[in-house]
Parts: sequence; C-alpha cells; structure tokens
Amino acid sequence: MTELAVRPSAVATRWWRDAVIYQVYVRSFADGNGDGIGDLPGVRGRLPYLADLGVDAIWLTPFYPSPMADFGYDVADYRNVDPIFGSLDDAKALIDDVHRHGLRIIVDVVPNHTSDRHPWFEAALRAGPGSPERERYIFREGKGAAGELPPNDWESIFGGPAWTRVEDGQWYLHLFAPEQPDLNWEHPQVHEEFADVLRFWLDLGVDGFRIDVAHGMVKAPGLPDVGRSGQARMIGMEVVPFFDQDGVHEIHRAWRRILDSYEGERIGVAEAWAPSPERLANYVRPDELHQAFNFHFLTAPWDAEAFREVIDESVRTSALVDAPPTWVLSNHDVKRHVTRYGGGDLGLRRARAAALLTLALPGSAYVYQGEELGLPEVLDLPEQYLQDPQRLRDPDSGRDGCRVPLPWTQDKPFGFAPPGAESAWLPIPESWGRLSVEAQRDDPESMLTLYRRALRLRRELPGLGDGPLVWLDSPEGSLAFSRGEGFVCAVNLRDRPVELTVAGELLLASAPARVSGGRVVLAPDSAAWWRGR
Ligand code: GLC
Repeated sequence: MTELAVRPSAVATRWWRDAVIYQVYVRSFADGNGDGIGDLPGVRGRLPYLADLGVDAIWLTPFYPSPMADFGYDVADYRNVDPIFGSLDDAKALIDDVHRHGLRIIVDVVPNHTSDRHPWFEAALRAGPGSPERERYIFREGKGAAGELPPNDWESIFGGPAWTRVEDGQWYLHLFAPEQPDLNWEHPQVHEEFADVLRFWLDLGVDGFRIDVAHGMVKAPGLPDVGRSGQARMIGMEVVPFFDQDGVHEIHRAWRRILDSYEGERIGVAEAWAPSPERLANYVRPDELHQAFNFHFLTAPWDAEAFREVIDESVRTSALVDAPPTWVLSNHDVKRHVTRYGGGDLGLRRARAAALLTLALPGSAYVYQGEELGLPEVLDLPEQYLQDPQRLRDPDSGRDGCRVPLPWTQDKPFGFAPPGAESAWLPIPESWGRLSVEAQRDDPESMLTLYRRALRLRRELPGLGDGPLVWLDSPEGSLAFSRGEGFVCAVNLRDRPVELTVAGELLLASAPARVSGGRVVLAPDSAAWWRGR
C-alpha cells in the first residue's frame, strides 16, 4: 500500500473532539418521494431542522444499492445509491447542502462483509472451489465424512451457524446473515477495493466514515473453534477468534493515512466491540481512527455508581491514547433508552436527565434520531411488519421497534412523507402525534426544547466539550461534576429528591429544581446545569 503525505491543510481544528453527531437512520428519517421509505432528498429537506437543533454533524446509515437483507448493511455496490434512497446526484447534492448548513457529514462503510449479490460474491459462486474469485471470501471445506458439517463451531451474531453450504459442497463464512458473506482481509484486492471506496466518497466531500464492525475484519489464523455457544458474543465483549484480532489495527492505520491525505480533518469512527475499555482504546490510537463508540456507557444501568464507573473508565482509557471519549445512549441496533430506563413517564424523566448528563461529559456525543423527541421503543408492532433479520432468528431481540419513522407533524400520517404518500414502511403509533416535532417545537417543557437549549449552551460555554471533568461531592445515588470555569452538572438517579449545595446560576434543568440560598433540591431522576460565579 502506498504511503500518503499529510497535507498541511489537514492541520487541526479538531472539530471531532467534541462534536455532537446526529445519527440519521435514512429509511426512517424523512420520505421525500412518497414511497413510504425515507430517502436522501428527505434528509436534505430536513437539514434546517438539524442545523436549528444545534448538532455539528450527521452520520447516515448505509444508502448504497442493497437487496436489504439487513436493511442496507448488505452492500451490493459501494459507490452508488440504492434507488429507494435516491441517486448519486442526490447524494452529491446532500453533501453540498449539509456543508451549506454549516454541518458535517459522515457515511457508513461496511467492510466486514458484502451482500451475497455483490458482483464479487456472484463471481465466487460461479467460479467454484479453488478459484481466485473464492479467495476474496472465506470459503472452506466442511467437516464430517462428506463435508456435511460446518468447518468450525462459530455462530452468527444473528443466530444459527456462521457458515452456509453452497451447491458444490463448500461452505462460506458469514458472521451476520447468510446474505452477508465475510470478506477475506488477507487478500490484497480487498484492501485495494476499500481504499478506493473511501477515496470515492472523500472525493465527493464526505467528512468521514462510521466503520461497521470495525473489530471484525480479521479472523484468528486457522479459524479455531470457540468451544462455547456463540450467541450474544458481540455484546458479551468476550475474547473470540473472530473479533478484535490485533490484525484489524493495520487496516485502520492504512485508512487513517488515507483520511489524513485529504483536507479538512476527515474522520473514522469505529463501531467496535472490545472485551475491555483498554482494548477499545486501541482503535483510537493517534495513528488509527478518531473515535470509537462507547457501548459500555450505553449498556450501563440507571445507577449512579454504575455511571460513575463507566465515565471514569472511559475518560481514563481514552486519555491513555489522547482520544476523545464518546457517549452513545441509543442507536438503530438497541432498544431506545426511554424504554430501557423504565418506559412511560419514568423512562422519559430519566432520558431527559441522561441527555443533560451526556451533553455535559467531555468528548463527543451521539444523538440517535428521535431521541431528541423522547421517542420510546415501539413494542407492539404488528407481526406482519417485523422484518429485522436478527428477530427472525431470535424473536426477543428484534430491532424494528427502534427504527419506526419519525413523527414530524401532529396529525396522521405525521409528516414523514409528502401528502398523499404510501403508508410509512413501519407504522407510526397513533400516540406519537404529541411527540412530533410540530407538537414539541414551541413547548418550553418539551424534550426537543431541552435538547435545543442544551446544545446551544454546549456551544456557548467554553468548559463543555473537550477538556477535564472534576467530580464533586454529592449525596449517595447522585452525581455531580464540574467542567472548566465553574460549570456544574448534577444528576439525581434516585427515586426521591436529593439536596445539594451549588453556587451559581441555574442554566437548565430536566425537571423543576427548587433553589433556595445555596441549596438546591433536585427532583427524582433529574439533572441540572449551573454556571458558577
Ligand atoms: C452493525 C450495524 C448493524 C448491522 C451489523 C451487520 O452492527 O450497526 O445494524 O446489522 O453491523 O452489518
């Protein structure tokens, strides 16, 4: 691989060290053409909303041509746009428009596997065993007298064996659905292809990539058995021969050189699951990627000690490699946090507090579309709509309920699509009219107003974003910390009020806070921000 020179103009604004990045799940954000599925023109039409919300960048989930076996995470052509999402011209127009709105744009890249309809995989099937075409994937002979057993005991993340047998008797590896064959990253063509794909999108002006399964591309030599059931490995953060192998870091280093060869600090964000925060920090060493999602924070229970531990751990380990910590509460793969935190009013109260906590922490924060509206998980989607491949194999872990389209207006069909459009691909619950952007926009008490105020303050206050965090004494079951010159965030995670001593001006609270003299009473499951005197 060629070594690329770093252009002087790639010198640091370090925008990504404290950016708030909004995740757009394209299918469900806004439908521009009325076919019931969100698309790139739909995103373009809502850029004023995102700019007004006050985020710094957007990350778009895959919009490339795909048979949609895993909703676009099965890519058939890495350099184009699926017709359901628009055209390449729409992508170019969107990238330019994002920049005109003062935002940045990150796109998804899916390097661990392709679609089974990718020309490479189709050629591999046609060419047969022993062909150079098969070398780009992981084909093996099976075990057993007639090769009738899979080559090893690995299980797919979506359930069932990670191997599928083809007509000529060989098996191919797929860590996810059978429609997502794993690439062989020992093959130089795979490296060249992805370097070229990155350049294709960088040339079009994207500001970076979210790298899907960034811990998965390299497998342990000889593909050894795991020896135990393979389910939930991704979340279990165990050491397994198909994830977090040291070899993946060489790939990320090569990609960093490509990113650095472009102007304007283009970034790489790892979706990586590692067995420990230290191992996760390896992905964001100075010559690797810029950020890695912090799933340890996302999986923490609603408990002051648990949060404090994961915050300390994340800050400590990212400091080891001088990377910014990141904070994620929800995404398109997990139950929405309003529901995880208890659902109903309780879940909403906690989600409001969690928003103030997250946006006050050092580093970069991710907002999953709809969390700024307080959307809960939809748990009662009618059976006929459920399509997530993960659910088809494991009924308890479907991801459809966090992917329901956004409600933009109060009345049915809630403004997701232009008037007269097809119904949305997943039905929007009747009750979501009151959670719509229209219903919340001018309501001073709404979740949307809380996010807008918090994001505005985050930009104005120098102590927020990148920089140190200092813990302050606070009663059991609560957290309090300062950032920079006198900024204080306090969170009460208990089911009864707590009293704190805080000097200064109350800037924002997730629930009414009683202030008298220097004493403040924080309501149960609430948070507040102060500016010190
Ligand atoms: C990532 C994506 C998820 C997808 C999987 C396979 O975890 O976030 O949606 O199913 O990769 O590509």
